[in-house]
Amino acid sequence: MRSLGSINNWSLTKLLKNNYYNFKRKNILRFIPSSILLNAFKTISSWKNYKATPLLKLDKLKKKLKVNNVFYKDESKRFHLKSFKALGGAYAVEKISKGKKNIIISSATAGNHGRSVAWGAKRLGLKCKIFVSQYVSDSRVQEIKKYGADVTRVKGDYENSLRECIRLSKKNNWKIVQDVSTKNYKLIPLLTMAGYSIMIKEISKQTNQYITHIFLQAGVGGMAAGVVAGVAKYFKRIPKIIIVEPDRADCVLQSVKGNKLKKIKIKKESIMGGMSCNEMSFIPWQVLRRASNFCVSVSDKNVASTAAMLKDKKFSKKSIVGGECSTPGIISLIGVCNNFKTKNLIELNEKSNVLLIGCEGNADVKLYKQLLSKGRK
Ligand SMILES: Cc1ncc(COP(=O)(O)O)c(C=O)c1O
Repeated sequence: MRSLGSINNWSLTKLLKNNYYNFKRKNILRFIPSSILLNAFKTISSWKNYKATPLLKLDKLKKKLKVNNVFYKDESKRFHLKSFKALGGAYAVEKISKGKKNIIISSATAGNHGRSVAWGAKRLGLKCKIFVSQYVSDSRVQEIKKYGADVTRVKGDYENSLRECIRLSKKNNWKIVQDVSTKNYKLIPLLTMAGYSIMIKEISKQTNQYITHIFLQAGVGGMAAGVVAGVAKYFKRIPKIIIVEPDRADCVLQSVKGNKLKKIKIKKESIMGGMSCNEMSFIPWQVLRRASNFCVSVSDKNVASTAAMLKDKKFSKKSIVGGECSTPGIISLIGVCNNFKTKNLIELNEKSNVLLIGCEGNADVKLYKQLLSKGRK
């Protein structure tokens, strides 16, 4: 079993300072309007079994890194769906169905978004068709089927599954609920991001400490943009925003670097499957290009050990179930602190209150077991 000493040599792959940083609440709330954020909270907090997810403290890690607090928002407890995605897709389904019972919902997914959409449809008694690529694990598919959705496997990658979802949805007049926005597809992704902002609304009531730094995992950037919108709306002080990606899929970092939306080539999929994305969503790009202070990337190397160390109480007094996408925020924070220069650059010190998002639990049960056994070696 690993000790906390084993993190001493963890490092980042890349760190980029955003030369175009200019956080303006007004601009952010122009892209993700305040009225939608308020409605998302009002609606979701009225759902049966709604409860704020725990804001935990990684006290052992904070001591080791010599910062004031390391908060960890534990989304493994979100509505039994085991990830923050429960807030997005299900809310969008409710908003667009507007009480109608005769519509059919569809979506393409890497896993957690589809689970949220299927659950949202089931809550409202709607039929649901979910499309997944050949890379989505059987255990993720089983989780989606639990909520009564028809699941279709499509050969090839996520984009193939999306194309098939669009083709059949057009033909059959199904309502597509995607979390990725383009220039011509904005409203539904906007609703999903507004759902994610609830994490910040909850945190604003869970601590009276000013958060100084937030590490935000990104795939297409939806979660990060939703959280940033929450910060613009609910936080009194603006923390430093650090975007975290797998080094094999650093589309946010590359876009911010060039001040231009960039599509990258993924040579090998990261184990952090939900974050293995080659291009940012359109609205998140508009938000994060100015709202992020830094972008960092990390390798897959320490993902398994981090999951095991969370579970084995190496970072906190309590055991925490954090899946693969919950780990890179912790890995990045450690990587930054292990280097005197980057720690100074990001201004992390004994006064800092850091927020990490534990965005998923054991959403993929089989993979999670593998992570634990590998991480404990
Ligand atoms: C399970 C999971 N899926 C996906 C993502 C990425 O979200 P997005 O594609 O909205 O950036 C995350 C976190 O970043 C995650 O934890």
